[in-house]
Amino acid sequence: MSAVRKAVVPAAGLGTRFLPATKATPKEMLPVVDKPAIQYVVEEAVSAGIDDVLFITGRNKRALEDHFDRNLELETVLRSKGDEERLALASESADLARIHYVRQGDPLGLGHAVLMAENHVGPEPFAVLLGDDLIDPRDPILERMVQVRDEHGGSVICLMEVPRAAISLYGCAAVSATTQADVLDVTDLVEKPDAADAPSTFAIIGRYVLDPAVFGILRETRPGRGGEIQLTDALRVLATTPPSAGGGVRGVVFRGRRYDTGDRLSYLQAVIRLAVERDDLGPELRTWLREFVPTLTP
Ligand code: UTP
Repeated sequence: MSAVRKAVVPAAGLGTRFLPATKATPKEMLPVVDKPAIQYVVEEAVSAGIDDVLFITGRNKRALEDHFDRNLELETVLRSKGDEERLALASESADLARIHYVRQGDPLGLGHAVLMAENHVGPEPFAVLLGDDLIDPRDPILERMVQVRDEHGGSVICLMEVPRAAISLYGCAAVSATTQADVLDVTDLVEKPDAADAPSTFAIIGRYVLDPAVFGILRETRPGRGGEIQLTDALRVLATTPPSAGGGVRGVVFRGRRYDTGDRLSYLQAVIRLAVERDDLGPELRTWLREFVPTLTP
């Protein structure tokens, strides 16, 4: 049995890059093809053996709660029509996991959102999954991260190599090799560095397995970049904290398919890439794209 039993999914950000869609709906509820981004994330946690999920919510909690609850009216109508396929789609999200909610109040940053989980998580290691990063279910990584935590203790982040010109969009890790090819020791971290100053081209993506020592550090973390309490700043402290105090950060290298749904252009690309691979929508969409693309003027 793994020591990691709980997942925290922050969903209280303002989602300003997606206005006006995110005015009354959390961006995590935006559909990727026909499923809200956040459902992919919960399914990923469940596939890694975690069935207790805490959402950190903001003012738009309602849509999330409704999505992970039953909709009895809808189920009754579908059942009376004998539409078993759609009935399964309407009820599957309510049966995925034990879901809990806590409010963040003011969205003071991702680090502050994670701190809201302290009471629920208690003195255990836990996973954090961000809805902006959609990991293709065919390339799972969270289970490996949990394994690394169980083996070595400390915290584990997920690293993806990006072109140097793109590193300023991400948190970046300074790393050194370990005896395991897919595991790196993280010696330092910096949030969105200039390409010229970046200590590596390893970008931090939205999956973490954190030691509960992070809570004490987050309480002391002052607002950083963008005036927000940054999780990266707390991880930086953990990287130099001794293992006896819950410190140490390792990075697991992710080389699979991942889609960014937090930014409008990447979101559109993610929807198209996933839809063209689907058995139900793919063939017709591919045919249409082949006809449509040559009509585009540069
Ligand atoms: P982002 O940095 O993408 O911020 O958050 P955002 O507010 O959601 O989006 P933009 O930049 O304004 O468009 C990364 C993750 O952290 C959560 C978000 O919901 C997202 O999953 N978050 C961020 C919180 O839960 N609380 C916060 O105070 C900030």
